[in-house]
Amino acid sequence: MDILVLIDIRLRLISTADSGIITAGVVLLMSMQYEVAFPSGKVQYIFGKGLQAIERLAPQPVILTDSHVASLYPSLTEAYPSIIIPAGESYKTLETLESITGQLLQYQVQRKSVLVGVGGGVVTDIAGFAAAVYMRGINCGFVPTTLLAMVDAAIGGKNGVDFGLQKNLVGTIRQPQFILFDTTFLQTLPEIEWSNGFAEVIKYACIFDAPLFDELAVNHMAYYQQQQTALKELIQCCATWKNQTVQEDEHESGDRKLLNFGHTVGHAIETLYQLPHGQAVALGMLVACKVSETVTQLDGHVYHRLTTVLQQYKLPYSLTLHPDRLMDILAMDKKRNDDKIDFIVLKNIGHAAIETIGFDVVRKAIDNFSYAGNR
Ligand SMILES: NC(=O)c1ccc[n+]([C@@H]2O[C@H](COP(=O)([O-])OP(=O)(O)OC[C@H]3O[C@@H](n4cnc5c(N)ncnc54)[C@H](O)[C@@H]3O)[C@@H](O)[C@H]2O)c1
Repeated sequence: MDILVLIDIRLRLISTADSGIITAGVVLLMSMQYEVAFPSGKVQYIFGKGLQAIERLAPQPVILTDSHVASLYPSLTEAYPSIIIPAGESYKTLETLESITGQLLQYQVQRKSVLVGVGGGVVTDIAGFAAAVYMRGINCGFVPTTLLAMVDAAIGGKNGVDFGLQKNLVGTIRQPQFILFDTTFLQTLPEIEWSNGFAEVIKYACIFDAPLFDELAVNHMAYYQQQQTALKELIQCCATWKNQTVQEDEHESGDRKLLNFGHTVGHAIETLYQLPHGQAVALGMLVACKVSETVTQLDGHVYHRLTTVLQQYKLPYSLTLHPDRLMDILAMDKKRNDDKIDFIVLKNIGHAAIETIGFDVVRKAIDNFSYAGNR
């Protein structure tokens, strides 16, 4: 039986029609559905339901997925009209959007159709964007199939494509109708993609949640791969942090920027070294710690704690960087403001802040990271 749950994210109280106030831990073991209201619209969050729930949520679904997910889950594309894009970040482009638009036209998709992105963050980003611009906007829903998309990319309404060397330069902010979380997809996820997802989990811990950081520090990736309950609680916890942040600042004029911790330099590393998003963010968080040591006098111990946790989740903690080339890419960053840039720094684990800092501070941190990381 479906249990309709209302969550007040601030109070973290959960009530159901049947049982009044119950604890989050109890609810997490069951399937559940709740609604999160963002300034621009409400989103249904559905946990613990299989793909068949799509039909209830989207009466005329058109599936958008990538070639990799389509080959792993052939029944998905057999069951519904489907658009399959090539897998990988290099296809998160305007060219792919053009091809999707052509296929939506071929399927004669009208306003009442729902475009459902089933895949990792590349798919959810481009599905959300295609839905936002096709016929000036049709509904969309997401079924994230990577850990990274479950804890981050599918949530919050940011969508878009890369352009040239710039990540996510072209896009919109628009909420999907629903997000369907089905952790059985993770059974086919390669180890490296688990690691990439954990980079974003560790990010939330760094910026908001010291107890979560401690929990991650005593566990390893295998623990969450084997313990379904712990995994679901972790996904729910990250979703709650993201929901709360986006509810307060959907258009990123304030605290939503905190979610960019590790991403400013991370995006430049991703572009320059063609690393997966999560791995680049891991390295970007370490550089951000070096920036923080200058800007907020962050204790150098934090850098070493983060390095240890990154290793526990099989994420990189060192790379020979090319500071000049990275700085060239950073100079094109959207968050740039003349010779300064909005940068997310840590005051401590669990406490982040937005600081406008000079590019020279970032450059020094990259130099220090190269030295610290490769000793
Ligand atoms: N919109 C946002 O707020 C936001 C936030 C974070 C990241 N992102 C974006 O998300 C993207 C990264 O997402 P990602 O790491 O999910 O990458 P991805 O979508 O490229 O997926 C990684 C790989 O996993 C494969 N895959 C997907 N599901 C699978 C499954 N169940 N089993 C086996 N393989 C599977 C994919 O085919 C792909 O090869 C980046 O483009 C990043 O910019 C967006």
